Amino acid sequence: MTGLNLKTILVTGGAGFIGSNFIRTFLDKHKGVEVINLDKLTYAGNLESLHGIDGNPSYHFYRGDIADEAFVRRLFNEWHFDALVNFAAESHVDRSILGPSAFIDTNVRGTMVLLEAAREFGVGRFLQVSTDEVYGSLGQTGKFTESTHISPNSPYSASKASADMLARAWWKTFGVPTLITRCSNNYGPFQFPEKFIPLMIANALRNKKLPIYGDGMNVRDWIYVEDHCEAIDVVLSKGKIGEVYNIGGGNEIANIEMARLILSKLGKPESLLEFVKDRPGHDRRYAMDSSKVEIELGWKPNQSFRGGIDLTVNWYIKNENWWKRIISGEYQKYYKLQYEER
Ligand code: NAD
Ligand code: TYD
Repeated sequence: MTGLNLKTILVTGGAGFIGSNFIRTFLDKHKGVEVINLDKLTYAGNLESLHGIDGNPSYHFYRGDIADEAFVRRLFNEWHFDALVNFAAESHVDRSILGPSAFIDTNVRGTMVLLEAAREFGVGRFLQVSTDEVYGSLGQTGKFTESTHISPNSPYSASKASADMLARAWWKTFGVPTLITRCSNNYGPFQFPEKFIPLMIANALRNKKLPIYGDGMNVRDWIYVEDHCEAIDVVLSKGKIGEVYNIGGGNEIANIEMARLILSKLGKPESLLEFVKDRPGHDRRYAMDSSKVEIELGWKPNQSFRGGIDLTVNWYIKNENWWKRIISGEYQKYYKLQYEER
C-alpha cells in the first residue's frame, strides 16, 4: 500500500456479504497485516462466510455492536488501527421500510461512535462504505457523479446519507481522516438470500415464484463484489482524505431482464415470474459515473457482467447448504453452538 504503513486494519461488518469477501481477498493480498473483524452477527452476519480463515493467525474476530460506545472504546484501546473500513450496516431497503429504527441505531449512531473512537484514539484512514442510493433516483438518462445532490428516498438510504455527512463533518471539524466510497448494487458469492439476485436464484432452484416489484423496469447498475472490494482497497491506499469516490460496474439492467437471465441460466420457465406490489418510494434507476476513481486512482472493474452472473449462479448451485441453512433458520442453531458461549 502506498501512503499508508498498514499493520492493523479494523473491518466492521466483516461477517456480511461484502465484508466477508473483502476480508478473504485482503488477507490474501496483504500478508502479515492484522485484520480485526468487528461484527454484531445480526441476522445478516454469518461466520460460515469466513470459513477457512479462522485458523489464519492474522485474523481476529470480535463480536460486538459498533453503536456500543464502551465496547468500541475498549477495542480501540486494545489495538492501534492504521485503517478502518466501516461495512457494518443494516443493509436491506425493504426491512428499513418495515422498521427503520435499527437503521438509525447502526448506520447513523454506530458510524458516529466509530468516528468518535477514531478521533479519540487516532486512526490512519477511516473509509466509510456508502452507496449510490444516497443520490436518490435517476430518470431515463444521466449518471450519478460525486457532485450529484444527495436525495435519499428510503429510510435505508437516508441513514447511509446521514453517515456520509457525519464522516465529512468529522474530517472537516475534527480532522478524522475519512474517505467515502459510494458503490452501486453488488452481486456475487455469500450475498444474503433476501437481496434480489440471490433471492431470484434460490427461488428458481426451488421452483418457487420470483417476486418482481411493480413493472420490473427499475434499473440497477450491477458490480461484481470482488471488483468493489478491490476498489475499496485502492481508495484506502491511494484516495485523497476528505474525498468521495463513486464505484460502479457499468452494467445497467432492468430487474425483469435480470430475472429472465437467471431463469435462462438455470433452465427454468418464465412462468415462475410473478409481478407483485411495488416497494413504496422505489427508486427507478441508478447508474454510476466512476470516472473519478478510474482516472485518479487507476481502478476499473475486471469482471464482465455475463462472467460474473455465471460465477454467481454456479456458486449458489454449489453452495446450497450455505443459503438453505439461512433460509431454514439452521444458521441460528449453528451460531448458537459455535459462538453463543464465547
Ligand atoms: P450485509 O447486510 O450482508 O452485512 C452487514 C454486516 O454488518 C453483517 O455481518 C451484520 O452482522 C453486521 N452488522 C449489522 N449491524 C451491526 C452493528 N450494529 N455492529 C456491528 N456489526 C453489525 O451488508 P452488505 O451487503 O455486505 O453491505 C456492506 C456495506 O456496504 C453496508 O454498509 C452497505 O450499506 C454497503 N453497500 C452495499 C451494497 C450492496 O449492494 N450490497 C452496495 C453499496 C454499498
Ligand atoms: P435489492 O437487492 O433489495 O437492492 P436495492 O433495493 O438496494 O437496489 O433490490 C434490487 C432491485 O430488485 C430493486 O429495484 C428492488 C427489486 N426487487 C424485486 O423486484 N423483488 C424482490 O424480491 C427484491 C428483494 C428486490
